[in-house]
Formats: sequence, structure tokens, C-alpha cells
Amino acid sequence: MNRIRRIGVLTGGGDAPGLNAVIRAVVRTADRLGGIETLGVLDGFEGLLERRYRKFTSSQVRDLVDKGGTVLGTTNRCNPFAMIPEPPAPAGARVDRSAEVVRHAREAEIDALIVIGGDGSLRIARQFSELGMAIVGVPKTIDNDLAATDYTFGFWTAIEVATYALDRLRDTAESHHRVMILEVMGRDAGWIALHAGLAGAADVILIPEIPYRIHAVEAKIEERAARGQSYSLVVVAEGAVPAGGQPSWRMADAGDGHPRHGGAGDRLARELAPHIEHEIRVTVLGHLQRGGSPVPFDRILATRLGRRAAEAAAGGRFGTMVCLRDGQVAEVSLDQATAGQKLVDPQGELVGTARAVGVGFGDEGGH
Ligand code: F6P
Repeated sequence: MNRIRRIGVLTGGGDAPGLNAVIRAVVRTADRLGGIETLGVLDGFEGLLERRYRKFTSSQVRDLVDKGGTVLGTTNRCNPFAMIPEPPAPAGARVDRSAEVVRHAREAEIDALIVIGGDGSLRIARQFSELGMAIVGVPKTIDNDLAATDYTFGFWTAIEVATYALDRLRDTAESHHRVMILEVMGRDAGWIALHAGLAGAADVILIPEIPYRIHAVEAKIEERAARGQSYSLVVVAEGAVPAGGQPSWRMADAGDGHPRHGGAGDRLARELAPHIEHEIRVTVLGHLQRGGSPVPFDRILATRLGRRAAEAAAGGRFGTMVCLRDGQVAEVSLDQATAGQKLVDPQGELVGTARAVGVGFGDEGGH
């Protein structure tokens, strides 16, 4: 194997608190592994198409461990294998510009590329790996829905934001005897809603994995009212679905092959209003969950994964993704990493614990 002299690093997809801590760990580890240089690629794969880079030295990443966002920039709209062509072009037309990425990486003397991304970016990374590029992946998403890792960094920061939001909503809900609905992120998986709902003592948690019936939500609120609790807190994941219905979409495809959700909280309020006497208010937490300084767990996880990714790249272990398995940092193949999504198990211990302490999931089974 040829000696690795320069590692490229890019961040792709939606940002997550902890991205900068990964970059810092990569740069510092690579430097200490015998002066391997780190070249940052700006704005995900777009930076490779447009040859936009930023060199890093160890001292330049000094202040990054607690900084939210990504200093490299990111986009969730650039798949070099299926780019939207310049107009005029027929609707739905896509062009494959992957060869340019491979050529530009070679010209920039990138010996190994670390891709920090979610399912979309990791799938693209796997395709480049199949073309022969030397790739190491690092899993990232606040949604925590990547199958091959216990946790993704950013998740616990998002939970903290959502939990604090519930704490504040409780005060005002109680004062006004209202039903407060908090909409959180999670388009396919309800991890944020479930964890924040547990930590913030929500009364009802609605997640994509457990389709809800409005009468079961209503029954939970009435049951509380009958016990003298004149307010209720409801957490709803953006991808929550009414039984037999569809998630609430703002856009069916936002240009990256994924829908954009929106309106789950408002829809729930509209559905509930005719059935209960309480006033209802809706708070959409949105991108507040993605910004801000990472909590210590996310900083540490990001640092551990960044170190291991640099070591994997320096050691020539390509086509892999670093991950957390049973609390230990490990490596899996990019095939395994992108094989499936990690969803909440409706029969699992976490849901069971929530039910045991009285949380309703909007299903007939056990409010
Ligand atoms: O990071 C994942 C996620 O937060 C999803 O939960 C959400 O649907 C999506 O990203 C929104 O992305 P954006 O608004 O940046 O396009």
C-alpha cells in the first residue's frame, strides 16, 4: 500500500452538532500519525466538483470542539451520480458527474477521503468506493437512525434542546390549562420524539413507527383531565402518521430524493380540536435542534470517531465506516453501514418504559 500523505475530509447532508469536533480530531490525529496533511473539501461533494478546498493545520482546529455547524459547509442537494443539469433540461433529467469528482480528488492529491454524513452521503460514498476511491465514512445525523452504530453524534444535543423546550412548555401549559404540541425532527424514525418525550415527561408521544388514532390521543388527554390534570404535553415527530394515513409533507421531493416534512403538529391540532375542550397551541422546534454547541457526549463521540477515521484512512482500511458498537469504537463496511435504517421498536424496552410510566402513543393498545 502507498503511504498516505494527504487525507481529504468533507461533511455532507444536514448538519449536526459535533461535525467540527470530528474535523478537529481527524486533523490532529492525522498530523500526529507522521505529518499526514488534512485538506478540507468545502460544501460536501459539491466542493470536489468545483475544486473548493481549505487546508487545515493542528493549530487551526484548536477552537472547534464546541462549535456547532460545520466549518466546511455542507449541502443535502449534491449527488454527483445524479446531478440536476443546467436549464434548459427536461424535468427529472439527471447527469452523472462522478468521474469529475474522482479526477479532481486525484488532482488535489487526496490519498484517502473521509466522508462525514448521513444515509444519503454514505450511499454516495459507497458508490465512490466501488469506483475505486479510498473512502472512510463517519456516521452523522441528529435523527440517530443509522443502523450500524449505537448512536450518531448530534443526537443527544437535539434531545437536550427538545427536552428543554418541553420543560418550558409545561410551565405555560399548566398556567393556561392547554394542550401543548411540540413537533420535533425525525422523518422516518421517532428517536428524538421518544427520548425527549421520556426526558421531558410528555403525556403523549407520536412517532412514525406507531401510527396514531386521534381518539386514543383524545382519550389520554381526557383521562388526565378526569384525574385533575388540566393540561397535557404532546410530542409529535415530523414523520408521525395517522393510522391508514400519510405523513404530513411539505415537499414530496426536495431535490435530494427525500421528502421534506412539515405540518405534523398543525395537523394534529386540527384533528384534535373538535374532540377536546382545551385550547391547543403548537410549537415547531425545527432547525433549533440542529444548531448550537454539542453536549459533552456528542463532543466525545465525535472525537472518538474522528480519531478512528483518521487511523483507518492512514492504515488503508478503505470502504469502511467507523461506528460505535456496544459502546466501543469499531469499523464496518460501507455496505453494512448503508444496509438499513434503525427504527424504534414498538415492542422494545424504551417504548415499554414510556408506557409503564403512563405515556400514550396514540394507539389503541395501551394509552
Ligand atoms: O438531519 C436530518 C433532518 O433533520 C430530518 O429530520 C429533517 O427532515 C431534515 O433533516 C431536514 O433537512 P433540511 O431542512 O436541512 O433540508
